[in-house]
Amino acid sequence: MIIYEENTLNIEDIKTIRESVHWKMFTDQQLQQALNMTVYSIVVKECEQPIAMGRLIGDGIYYLICDVAVIPSYQKQGIGTRIIQQMIEYVYRHLQSDERCSIQLIAAKGKEEFYESLGFVKIPNDLSGHGMQMFIKKK
Ligand SMILES: CC(C)(COP(=O)(O)OP(=O)(O)OC[C@H]1O[C@@H](n2cnc3c(N)ncnc32)[C@H](O)[C@@H]1OP(=O)(O)O)[C@@H](O)C(=O)NCCC(=O)NCCS
Repeated sequence: MIIYEENTLNIEDIKTIRESVHWKMFTDQQLQQALNMTVYSIVVKECEQPIAMGRLIGDGIYYLICDVAVIPSYQKQGIGTRIIQQMIEYVYRHLQSDERCSIQLIAAKGKEEFYESLGFVKIPNDLSGHGMQMFIKKK
């Protein structure tokens, strides 16, 4: 049975799932700090093994969805969709009446349509310019 756990994601889960999708690794210290600063996480498990994850970070006004990944053999079964939907529901639940906020994310190349199907809009658009980013590495 596939289960969706909230806020139990740990370093080993992240490492297992990141490796499966060939993402570069971070140090354990960075991963632990990232988990400590995560407002909401989801880890999906089958037979107690992690198969997918997602993290939401933010301050109640701006949120960022990151680390969304599903182990390849479990992709295209609706798991990624449910992770994103749960995150959107979390954000909605934590708004008071009349409050607003936004959720940002950077789609991996080729994954734009996946996020569009879940209600995200590409930038630039009439309202916003390009999203921008900077990578920083300490020597
Ligand atoms: C992007 C990613 C998270 C999507 O997760 P997923 O679990 O495969 O997503 P879903 O199954 O919910 O949806 C993916 C597609 O499968 C389709 N699908 C969903 N359930 C399905 C099913 N039962 N049978 C067939 N197709 C199905 C969806 O319609 C969707 O179609 P699309 O490609 O046209 O959008 C996953 O591919 C992944 O981890 N990729 C590698 C890491 C990565 O790039 N992460 C994104 C960072 S921004």
